[in-house]
Amino acid sequence: MMEDLIKSNRSFRRFYQQQAIAGETLKKLVNLARLSASAANLQPLKYILASEPPKNAAIFSCLAWAGYLTDWPGPAEGERPAAYIIILHDREVAKEVWCDHGIAAQSMLLGARAMGLGGCMLGSIKKDQLRELLQIPNRYEILLVIALGKPKETVVLEEVGPDGSIKYWRDDDGVHHVPKRRLEDLILGE
Ligand SMILES: Cc1cc2nc3c(=O)[nH]c(=O)nc-3n(C[C@H](O)[C@H](O)[C@H](O)COP(=O)(O)O)c2cc1C
Repeated sequence: MMEDLIKSNRSFRRFYQQQAIAGETLKKLVNLARLSASAANLQPLKYILASEPPKNAAIFSCLAWAGYLTDWPGPAEGERPAAYIIILHDREVAKEVWCDHGIAAQSMLLGARAMGLGGCMLGSIKKDQLRELLQIPNRYEILLVIALGKPKETVVLEEVGPDGSIKYWRDDDGVHHVPKRRLEDLILGE
């Protein structure tokens, strides 16, 4: 079951934008992050939730989508995320976050997938612009944005081919292909 969930938990970048996500649903996802591992249990992460069109549009304007799809500017109006969770580091709680935000992001995305939703974590963020638009105080470092919605695209996993390219690509039917390295190429010793 866990393997199925992880396999189905792809980075989705096109959504049914009109299918709203309730604030309560976003809170349930943050609760999964809250219950996840944290270095020294310091729990320095804070979250901003967005599920209303104007706030969503502001966040969307700060994001860069699918760098390898150079001829695709990102999801068109109507296919954009219905909600976002911004992960912040509260510098007054701890100096370092280590990898807490990656763990939190994965917990929330797995939770979203288990609810029939999907998403994408985005690290390519115009942080100054986002801080300005949402009036985020300097005490909070912007770490990741989680885009969420009902997925409107098919994403398939495949093995990295003989050319060794790890670049994801989209075929003529709009199916998104993600090459993953072979297991035997990752394990250095046993
Ligand atoms: C830390 C991190 C940052 C990422 N930032 C972006 C981003 O800014 N924009 C984007 O479209 N995808 C982003 N992604 C998604 C990756 O491109 C995606 O995970 C990768 O292509 C593999 O696809 P998969 O998630 O379906 O396995 C990010 C993923 C991670 C883990």
